[in-house]
Amino acid sequence: MIPCPMPTLRPRGTAVGLFVVALTVGCQQTREHSPSLRAAVAPPAVGAPSASTLPGLHNVVTYAPDVICGGVPEGAEGLQTLAAMGVQSIVSVDGATPDVAGAERRGMRYVHLPISYDTVTAERQQQLAQALHSLPRPIYVHCHHGKHRSAAALATAAVRAGVLTNDEALERMAVSGTAKDYQGLWQAVREASPLPQDGLRADPASFPSVSKVSGLVATMAAIDLVFDLVKQAQKAGWQAPQDHPDLVAPKETARLAQLFDDLQHDADSQALAADYQAMLQRAIAGATALDAALRASDRATADRWLEALGKGCKECHKDYRDRR
Ligand code: HEC
Repeated sequence: MIPCPMPTLRPRGTAVGLFVVALTVGCQQTREHSPSLRAAVAPPAVGAPSASTLPGLHNVVTYAPDVICGGVPEGAEGLQTLAAMGVQSIVSVDGATPDVAGAERRGMRYVHLPISYDTVTAERQQQLAQALHSLPRPIYVHCHHGKHRSAAALATAAVRAGVLTNDEALERMAVSGTAKDYQGLWQAVREASPLPQDGLRADPASFPSVSKVSGLVATMAAIDLVFDLVKQAQKAGWQAPQDHPDLVAPKETARLAQLFDDLQHDADSQALAADYQAMLQRAIAGATALDAALRASDRATADRWLEALGKGCKECHKDYRDRR
């Protein structure tokens, strides 16, 4: 049996309040698959001028009817919201391993087609377009933050599948907030063209639920998750945030230092040039110092190291991640 997730839901407005009521009913009756539950959360309107936040889901933007883009579903709450929107298929383009079992328990199919930050390759565009064309809808496409990669992946797929024009897709990407710096992502959408019908056909069962990614990508995806938690703890004054009562900041900072340290033993990471290695060493030293400062309850020093670490992510990505 799946536990009802009510205690983690916090009403944030009328629609969400209704959702909680409907969810309560859904749980008492037939659990996750109740039709009343399905209708409980409306996705953002097609053409909405800004992204929406829903319980456990960030940066949600509807690209076309039943075609939705956003951030990674956060835990049971995020998956529950997707189920309550009636979502049938979830496509992750992030390097992190998706919660396939959690989605399946709620009657949703997960497909994992990770992309990088530098471009959407022609092969991936076709797979994404085929997924969009053949998977049951509503479909939710996500990366981690829901701003850059999922936006570009869905935008190219929508153009290739004939769902949106290039201009419409670019406009939706802007609403998702894709940064101008990711020129390769924008270029892929500008240059995408519709595929012939027979190029769109695919057996829905052929899409992978989990794709293998390189050790570097997998570790970075883990770093991203942990770094987010550390930032949330900082925002709450280095305490557990109200909506994350079990977050222990020094546990997360120790994990962050460990993950950067792991990269020293990763073959893909070892193969990169000397200035990458220097930036990696700075990240290891920064994460270690952040952890030590927190353990010494020196919050001001912890703040400074966190800021330096954040700059380190950007600096290294500029040369080693975001360029073709
Ligand atoms: C020393 C260099 C370096 C530092 C420091 C660094 N990264 Fe990365 N990161 C990379 C490289 C290189 C890639 C691309 C790997 C690939 O696609 O093969 C990457 C990829 C990523 C990705 C994409 C993973 C995916 O799903 O494809 C995320 C997210 C990420 N990094 C987050 C972070 C965060 C957050 C920080 C800082 C706390 C950080 N990185 C610090 C080098 C770095």
